[in-house]
Amino acid sequence: MKPQRPAPDASSADFWEPLYQSAPPPTGTRPNARLTELVRDLRLIPGHAYDLGCGHGGDALWLASLGWLVTAVDVSATAVSRVEAAASDQGIGDRVRAEQHDLSRSVPTGPFDLVYACYFHSPVTIDRTDVLRRSAQQVAPGGYLIIIDHASVAPWSWRLDDEDPVFPAPEETANALTLSTTWRTERCERSELTATGPDGTTATVADNLIALHRQDT
Ligand SMILES: C[S@@+](CC[C@H](N)C(=O)[O-])C[C@H]1O[C@@H](n2cnc3c(N)ncnc32)[C@H](O)[C@@H]1O
Repeated sequence: MKPQRPAPDASSADFWEPLYQSAPPPTGTRPNARLTELVRDLRLIPGHAYDLGCGHGGDALWLASLGWLVTAVDVSATAVSRVEAAASDQGIGDRVRAEQHDLSRSVPTGPFDLVYACYFHSPVTIDRTDVLRRSAQQVAPGGYLIIIDHASVAPWSWRLDDEDPVFPAPEETANALTLSTTWRTERCERSELTATGPDGTTATVADNLIALHRQDT
């Protein structure tokens, strides 16, 4: 199903739920390569993670397979129920709490050792910065905030007909969080990689990576 630009008063669920309903459940999920690199490079120790806008849950399920307890949140009830089913199929149902929230209205209970947002972009009018800022406040002392944003559109990704997306620079996104100085910046960069699309073609795509470490204990 090709998405249509949402009406100005559409809710996030109005836009995202039909997309998930019309897409078949994935036959398998894989984690984002950036996340796997960051978890390795930052030597993150499993604790309680929060994946906001988890979609089909490839990242949440991967973190749970490493021993994390993961609260996986999405506005789509279909996405949430698929994450729950996949966790149960993989024998990690006890480590995945899949919850439906429209994060502009309600949030899961924290704090979390890792707050993670991957491609939390939406054509629906929501205050994304406010969602990210409030999520950052749910990071426990000593914990991490990781944001992976698009910095380009892959040829195989959908885009709205009249859309010419502009992505904020990583510094802009990080500064908008207005965090205190008790955070150390581990990554704040644009990064390109060769990615493979669903049809097997490859293309160079760019992401913005932000990894921040809360220093107070
Ligand atoms: C571009 S997808 C990214 C999905 C996944 N994180 C990934 O990396 O593949 C954005 C996700 O955010 C979810 N989302 C959008 N607005 C939301 C909101 N207000 N509250 C919660 N989830 C939302 C969508 O349902 C969708 O699953």
